[in-house]
Amino acid sequence: MSVPIQVSLILPTRNEAANIAEAIERAKAALSDYVHEIIVVDDNSPDGTAEIARDIASRDRSVRYLKRVGRRGLASACIEGALTAAGEVVVVMDADLQHDETILPKLVAAVLENQSDLSVGTRYTEGGGTSDWSEEREAQSAFATRLAKIVLKKTPLSDPMSGFFAIRAELFRELVPQLSGRGFKILLDLVFASEKPLRVHEEPFVFRSRDAGESKLDAPTALQFLMMIYERMFGHIVPVRFALFAAVGGLGIFVHMAVLFGLFRGLELGFVWAQTGAVVVAMTYNFLLNNILTFSDVRLKGWGLLKGWAVFCAVCGLGAIANVGVATYLFNESHVMWTVSALAGIIVGAVWNYAMSSRFTWGQL
Ligand code: GDD
Ligand code: MN
Repeated sequence: MSVPIQVSLILPTRNEAANIAEAIERAKAALSDYVHEIIVVDDNSPDGTAEIARDIASRDRSVRYLKRVGRRGLASACIEGALTAAGEVVVVMDADLQHDETILPKLVAAVLENQSDLSVGTRYTEGGGTSDWSEEREAQSAFATRLAKIVLKKTPLSDPMSGFFAIRAELFRELVPQLSGRGFKILLDLVFASEKPLRVHEEPFVFRSRDAGESKLDAPTALQFLMMIYERMFGHIVPVRFALFAAVGGLGIFVHMAVLFGLFRGLELGFVWAQTGAVVVAMTYNFLLNNILTFSDVRLKGWGLLKGWAVFCAVCGLGAIANVGVATYLFNESHVMWTVSALAGIIVGAVWNYAMSSRFTWGQL
């Protein structure tokens, strides 16, 4: 009679060839009191991490690996790994040896034996810490943690940005349909997704320094984090794409004014020419920034970029007509205050530009 698996440990990897074998070995030793499986989820690392994992898996039945091709992201890797898990508790740990594997038994016991829904390795309680972080990284982490805490009302955590935790597998599976899967922060995503408060245990640990390989946290991951927070806070009122689109447009006003000033005052062009130049530059700026930020997932390139720019300008031209039309109508016919009329025109124009350019410039519905 075989004993059912108690613990499924997920090790997400991207270019961890120098660490993965050691990480597996240490995890196995730490989990030796439990029936466990280890699942490596690799995002097609060019350094051959998946091949090393496969080699280990071919000799050790408690180790499996999943190689994803054409997809990237720490959070989604953990989700897919957890969906293949057969154990009662799912544990997520970094594979770069920065998480202290010696607390694994405590993390597991809290869920398996002491009825917590979730147990989290934390850097921010007595006994925890970060070993050699730069002041900049400390500050970034502190900022992100503060931001995350605002949204985590139901289940307060001292270290919501941690990527080291254990959770009841059944609960994980229940939450999967509600996850955003964006970016780096799978723990935060899970806690956000839960309607009810979770019973949490926290276990302090010291975040080690990295010996081999390098961190994958970069500007796009930071942006995805902010988008995830936004989605949870206001996403149901104003969708994240529209908010980005509107923010880019708002900045466009400054671009417009700066160019207008340069052409009209600096080069002393006639106002019509200066204003026309400013419109073209501001529209182009809007288009390019939206292409990078707002529609980063369907970004246009090459000829598509040129065609998209033309369509975008046409859409915004009509948007401007709608803007002026609505504002003028309200002001002249309905005698609405001039500021309110102008604002109404701007909103109508912005919604038009957004709806039409998502559809016709970036092919989104
Ligand atoms: N499959 C996959 N796909 N794995 C990834 C990806 C990816 O796109 N990006 C990173 N990883 C893996 C790394 O190989 C490593 O095992 C782990 O995820 C953590 O990535 P690092 O790049 O080393 O992250 P870090 O050290 O900067 O960030 C850590 O600190 C955060 C707290 O501030 C991580 O532990 C996070 O989980 C933690 O939230
Ligand atoms: Mn790391």
